[in-house]
Amino acid sequence: MAKRHIAIVGCGTVGTALGQLLAQAGHVIVGVSARHKESAEKAARKVGTKRCSEIPWDITVGAQVVFITTPDDAIEKTCQDISDKNGFDNAAVVLHCSGALSSEILASARTCHASVASLHPLQSFASVEQAVHLVPGSYCAIEGDPPALATARQMVGDLGGIVMEIKKGAKTLYHAAAVVASNYLVTLVHVAQALNKNVGLSPHVSFKALQPLIKGTLKNIEARGIPDALTGPICRGDIATVQAHLASMKREAPELLDAYRALGRLTVGLARAKGTLSPERADRMEALLKNRK
Ligand SMILES: NC(=O)c1ccc[n+]([C@@H]2O[C@H](COP(=O)([O-])OP(=O)(O)OC[C@H]3O[C@@H](n4cnc5c(N)ncnc54)[C@H](OP(=O)(O)O)[C@@H]3O)[C@@H](O)[C@H]2O)c1
Repeated sequence: MAKRHIAIVGCGTVGTALGQLLAQAGHVIVGVSARHKESAEKAARKVGTKRCSEIPWDITVGAQVVFITTPDDAIEKTCQDISDKNGFDNAAVVLHCSGALSSEILASARTCHASVASLHPLQSFASVEQAVHLVPGSYCAIEGDPPALATARQMVGDLGGIVMEIKKGAKTLYHAAAVVASNYLVTLVHVAQALNKNVGLSPHVSFKALQPLIKGTLKNIEARGIPDALTGPICRGDIATVQAHLASMKREAPELLDAYRALGRLTVGLARAKGTLSPERADRMEALLKNRK
């Protein structure tokens, strides 16, 4: 596909990294914009453009593709402001990179006869350099208007990412899944560390000791899938062990019991699916984990 003229509004981690990668892929970055002049100038040097401004519509006019890579809560208003100034070209494609929001927050751009989509790299970036390194090879979720989707597919390909098309109405659930897999993993490790504190292990030693177990479990999931990767007392139907966990936690860490029980009940469902538990033992395990006494 043809190389595109691209404008970037919001020159932080993602905007600057995408600009660098797309310029490397042969696209022309026609201009960049940020709230502060210094941010825009810094990004302009990195992506190889001379045009930079604190006024978005100064650099979006003439662009075939516009990335709005401001923080999530500024995307809709930024797009509305540009639309009000007639700042999108006819048939331009306007994209944002939020994981939580759908392309509909860019609807104002349609008044300029632009089409809209979202393109979310499913990764976490702490710096521009890290993003430049991690975007290639990352899955990128896209959804939006058909003409914009074709461009989003091309952009992901040129970024070296893997296209993952999702339904427009499913964006929130898609983001919830990412939060569970990433943020809740942090919370789970914290819960394990909190239990180990009662054992007398420092958070540092606890993490070091748990890390090989966590990595091994991820490898098992990769090799065997879910539910086959599941091991442990619930999977074996070891009711006495789970009873002992609950009794110890009631004494030592009652604030963590609800989380243990809720995750345990979901684990019983997986053990049923794996077929290692008889229906009778699975029912008993479930009842034990439901019992709040
Ligand atoms: N970082 C990640 O891990 C990650 C991963 C995937 C997707 N995303 C998504 O990528 C988008 C950008 O995130 P980011 O981490 O790159 O953000 P960021 O580093 O905070 O950069 C935000 C940029 O937007 C500008 N900006 C801030 N408020 C603005 C406003 N009210 N109007 C116009 N411009 C404004 C900032 O300008 P100044 O520098 O002048 O203040 C800055 O250039 C978000 O939608 C985010 O959800 C981020």
